[in-house]
Amino acid sequence: MIDFFGIRQQKEKIGSSINDAIEKVLNHGNFIMGPEVTKLEDELAKYVGISNCITCSSGTDALLMSLMALNIKRGDAVITSSFSYIATAEVIELLGAKTYFCDINENTFNLDYDFLKKVYEIAVKDGHTPKAIIGVDIFGLPARYRVIEEFAKSKSMYVIEDMAQSFGAEIRGKRAGTFGDIAATSFFPTKPLGCYGDGGAIFTENENLADLLKSIRVHGSGENKYDNVRLGLNGRLDTIQAAILLEKLSLFDNELNKRKELAEIYRDKISRNYNFQYIPEDYNSAYALFSLVAESCDKRKKVMDSLNDKSIPSMIYYPKPLNKQEVFSDLEGLKQKNSENISQKIFSIPFHPYLDQKDQQTIIRILNNV
Ligand SMILES: Cc1ncc(COP(=O)(O)O)c(C=O)c1O
Repeated sequence: MIDFFGIRQQKEKIGSSINDAIEKVLNHGNFIMGPEVTKLEDELAKYVGISNCITCSSGTDALLMSLMALNIKRGDAVITSSFSYIATAEVIELLGAKTYFCDINENTFNLDYDFLKKVYEIAVKDGHTPKAIIGVDIFGLPARYRVIEEFAKSKSMYVIEDMAQSFGAEIRGKRAGTFGDIAATSFFPTKPLGCYGDGGAIFTENENLADLLKSIRVHGSGENKYDNVRLGLNGRLDTIQAAILLEKLSLFDNELNKRKELAEIYRDKISRNYNFQYIPEDYNSAYALFSLVAESCDKRKKVMDSLNDKSIPSMIYYPKPLNKQEVFSDLEGLKQKNSENISQKIFSIPFHPYLDQKDQQTIIRILNNV
């Protein structure tokens, strides 16, 4: 059986060092904000190349806490991609702000810059104050932050990087996590750097935001945990998860290189009857997923059935753009032509650093024969 994410194979490689790391936490007993959490924050900040890393309980909470730290509230508008996981937009609405969906570029599947400008005008016309743009690094490919940041700056808006899928990615040698005012990532088990449960982290260069985030993480604490100066959450990362992530971080660069190598084989050998995500020059994707666009919805079904006949898993990220989710049915806005079209035809195939070469050839053969 071919694995989709390779978590089992990774565990075979580092299982014993993870067991030792967990045992160490069980022995010292600092399960909440123990020494592994601080160590992980230092190492992640160093890896990303930024001053502050604030770990937290999930990628969703990383986004929510980021918006809270930027004081996003009722009356504000936040613009984000309609082609993402629900968490990206859910957190905006939870704070009472209005979500304005922006369509994606048909080649990169990330925010379309011209559309972004149109959405901004509509939000203003509706009487909202556009306060922030959340760029989504879909499938591991960073959005075009140079133009997004330039536009945001001209309108006095913040930029948040949703890098749940792009830890380890780069633009011109600058790592994901360093774009915008704040970056939020996820350590969900299937992410490029994943733990064995829920987890997340926030990166920022801004010391003031870092202090706010540390307070929001523990119920808006002030001088101490029983002094509460603002609304917050219980948003901490468990010490055990931090210990697991430290072990996995030691493998991460090798795994990232392997992802790149295997992605290049897929790109080289899969027939041009499928479209690939376009990776612009000077961009390095973290390849959280390997996705393909079939010629039609029917052809997608056919190829997914053929893979399934050989017990090869495939998934659809995402079958419905966010603007079409029932929960957002009362949101008005522009038609998201590319998101709607791509979600009808996209699918993802098994992809992880431990994918066996023979298995990869089998997958390619099936895809090319349909
Ligand atoms: C783009 C994106 N944003 C946010 C999240 C939320 O992360 P988590 O599942 O850790 O809450 C995910 C996770 O799947 C994601 O893919």
